[in-house]
Amino acid sequence: MTAANHPQWAQSDTDLTGRSIAVIGGAGGVGEGVVQSLLHFGATVVAAGRSSANLEGLATRSGAPTLNTEVLDALAPDLDETATRLAAKYGVFDGVIVAVASWGDQGQKPVLSLSDDEWDQLLAANITAVFRLYRAFIPHVAPGGVLIQLNGMSAEIPFPGNAGVALSAAAGKSLTRTLAAELQDAGPRVYEVILGVIRTRSRQLAGIDDPGWIPARDIGVHVAELIGGNSPLAGIDLHYVVDPVQGPRSRP
Ligand SMILES: NC(=O)c1ccc[n+]([C@@H]2O[C@H](COP(=O)([O-])OP(=O)(O)OC[C@H]3O[C@@H](n4cnc5c(N)ncnc54)[C@H](OP(=O)(O)O)[C@@H]3O)[C@@H](O)[C@H]2O)c1
Repeated sequence: MTAANHPQWAQSDTDLTGRSIAVIGGAGGVGEGVVQSLLHFGATVVAAGRSSANLEGLATRSGAPTLNTEVLDALAPDLDETATRLAAKYGVFDGVIVAVASWGDQGQKPVLSLSDDEWDQLLAANITAVFRLYRAFIPHVAPGGVLIQLNGMSAEIPFPGNAGVALSAAAGKSLTRTLAAELQDAGPRVYEVILGVIRTRSRQLAGIDDPGWIPARDIGVHVAELIGGNSPLAGIDLHYVVDPVQGPRSRP
């Protein structure tokens, strides 16, 4: 990313030099764009996820010496110990970004067709995982630091055929905003950022693309401005990025 292809809404003074930021789901579609933008603005980034192959691919494509990768499963019993180990290795985090998602193995199904196991797995992967990441990582975020959940519009609107993902998204919005209220004035800033359709590398590789969608790196620009504190929305806990031209807004 160069200054020339920053979105027109971007601030001109974003600088994350010296900041340490963990991106959980950093090798995912949205996560990769966020990682690349944070690196561009000078941060040291720890990208984490379950697949070492995906993390290695990210590191190879990036080539940045300030990118570190760590295998981590949000549902593993030892998640708290892993977060403590990473904080000891990289120092207290100035930002933790949660960009995890899982569609499960069941494909699209009407909600009443979900089996008990499918229901349990979708909720575990999409909301229990988020709760466990917050509980594990918040103690390792600097008091002036930031925790951000990247979420989707299924937090707001019906999503036929994908009830488990959608209700987890709605629950994630509630969870994140409740944490933001609980930590107000007494801990890291907490943000819920709800996204429209994103142009990701994985979608483009699958031949699915639309120039009207939002580049994943633009989400990273907003995340960088929240961590840097120069976003006009830094004082508001709930943001929407649904239009590539308008950029971040406090309303959908
Ligand atoms: N793509 C879009 O257009 C779009 C639109 C709106 C909102 N969003 C939101 O953006 C966020 C990320 O979505 P995405 O499209 O980037 O999804 P994605 O491409 O499937 O990436 C999800 C990432 O989460 C990681 N992950 C999943 N479960 C994990 C676990 N238990 N522990 C650790 N890492 C885990 C995955 O890595 P491993 O599999 O290696 O663990 C992967 O890197 C989601 O909240 C989604 O709702 C995306």
